[in-house]
Amino acid sequence: QDEGYQKTFKNCAELVPTLPRSKGWWLDELFHYQGFWMSSFPIRGSMLISDHFKPRPTDIIVATSPKCGTTWLRALIFSIINRASFDFNDHPLRKLNPQELVLLFEGHIPCRFVYICRDPKDVLVSKWHFSNKLRPKEVPPLSLEEAFDLFCKGVSHYGPFWDHVLGYWKASVESPKKVLFLTYEDVKKEPLGCVRKVAEFLGVPFSPEEENKKTVEEIVKLCSFESLSNLDVNKSVAKRSERPVSNSDFFRKGEVGDWVNHLSPEMVEKMNQITEQKLQGIEFNF
Ligand code: A3P
Repeated sequence: QDEGYQKTFKNCAELVPTLPRSKGWWLDELFHYQGFWMSSFPIRGSMLISDHFKPRPTDIIVATSPKCGTTWLRALIFSIINRASFDFNDHPLRKLNPQELVLLFEGHIPCRFVYICRDPKDVLVSKWHFSNKLRPKEVPPLSLEEAFDLFCKGVSHYGPFWDHVLGYWKASVESPKKVLFLTYEDVKKEPLGCVRKVAEFLGVPFSPEEENKKTVEEIVKLCSFESLSNLDVNKSVAKRSERPVSNSDFFRKGEVGDWVNHLSPEMVEKMNQITEQKLQGIEFNF
């Protein structure tokens, strides 16, 4: 197996320098690989998955574009799946960041996907704030104008954002039993209904006893922005050695529509135009 991995590492090391590249959002470089912009690490991840990963039908993949609600969805799905194993007052989510409970994975494989998307205007604003937290102090902050241009050109992690969304949207229409498509805005508006929908999709619907015990309400409360962002583990600003990001960086405002506080009317118009054109008139609830 090791030999197989080494071969993939070698193929990746040879491939990456040949790919079209662009400057990234912090100090990373983005490469254009199979239609999407990524840093070199996830390219290696994708290659490892396609060369070596054998999915089981019971596997569940949480799929998102960054800043669409990955942290929230990881927390919700972990709580739904493991609800019989833990007491909500002494729950792993109270001690570990959702990133540590639902591990990072990239790829396209035939098992169940739960996808979450979000208004691209809010994604851009969230990503811009996040990038500036990640940029080393020695380099000037990324301006909103620059971030806007990169995002609109499709040069963002796993971007073009709209192509990512459209791919999963189409898959959810073609294979509704395999891909569940959610929006951040819907989960904010109807968290209880969305949690029930996810549980049903995953084949673990809530029983009448659980409904009586208000398990759905417990899950929504535990995973809410207010609850998770106020836990000591998520207030931590300590950076991990393998990446320049701290648990607290994944929690900012957790609101719908913060873009009104940042984007000019021209930016809004341009972004809405791209969304309309790229998402081919599909009605999302943003
Ligand atoms: P804002 O920057 O708009 O506040 P991701 O987890 O995909 O990186 O997305 C991060 C965004 O989700 C941030 O948005 C963050 O504040 C928000 N978020 C994190 N946890 C959340 C939760 N439990 N409920 C709602 N939003 C959450």
